[in-house]
Amino acid sequence: MTTPFKIGTLISGGGTNLQAIIDACRDGRIPAKIMFTGSDTPGVRGLDRAEQAGIATFVVDYQQIITACRDNGIAPDDLPDDFNLAEVTDKQKLMDPADDRTPFFLQSRAMAEKKLLARILPYDIDLLVLAGFMRVLTPYFIDRINTVPGQHRIMNIHPALLPAFPGTDGYGDTFRYGCKIGGCTVHFIDYGEDTGPIIGQKAFEIEDTDTLEDVKRKGLEKEWELYPECIKKFIRGA
Ligand code: GAR
Repeated sequence: MTTPFKIGTLISGGGTNLQAIIDACRDGRIPAKIMFTGSDTPGVRGLDRAEQAGIATFVVDYQQIITACRDNGIAPDDLPDDFNLAEVTDKQKLMDPADDRTPFFLQSRAMAEKKLLARILPYDIDLLVLAGFMRVLTPYFIDRINTVPGQHRIMNIHPALLPAFPGTDGYGDTFRYGCKIGGCTVHFIDYGEDTGPIIGQKAFEIEDTDTLEDVKRKGLEKEWELYPECIKKFIRGA
């Protein structure tokens, strides 16, 4: 028997992309098994979707971790043993290294990422899929998933036609700019925010009468087609 291709998923919310991937695995469009769904937020609908599909779930509560760091401070003993602030600061392209807030940002995220890794690594996955995961990942985490130099193993979906409108509100930014074409992008994660190599994109027209809700609806419908196609492409080795 051949070993199935193993996918891990991370979410933060409703999980409609996760559902599209679950459905595509179930009906054979993606020849893979989803090993787990992790969330940075407790109680989100996407966790229910995973449980209904019989997928193992876990939560690493980022907000709780970051608040505890803010309230209690970060002692060197709190950090992962293998965390090197200078190295991570140097590699990352998320924050200005000279900004006073950068060490706290990277250290508090690494504390959450250590917990994520403890849940993820035992599954020995082939691909990590971010399906509406609203946290940036630091080089500390990325390097422990991308263990083969030059081989990307973390995929993300973004609600805009990158490199336009990176950040947390792609459809909102597209709509407010007055774009006549919107779209979504699946890309690999690198050390920047929404900057990694593009795997696939889909576009849709924005009519003059469309509201922001229309743009989000049209965009999500494209996402549900695009993500399974890109995962399939990755599994084929394309
Ligand atoms: C999707 O629109 C996805 O593109 C976006 O979050 C939404 C999640 O929806 N992701 C990002 O903005 C990542 N920065 P879902 O939970 O229903 O799949």
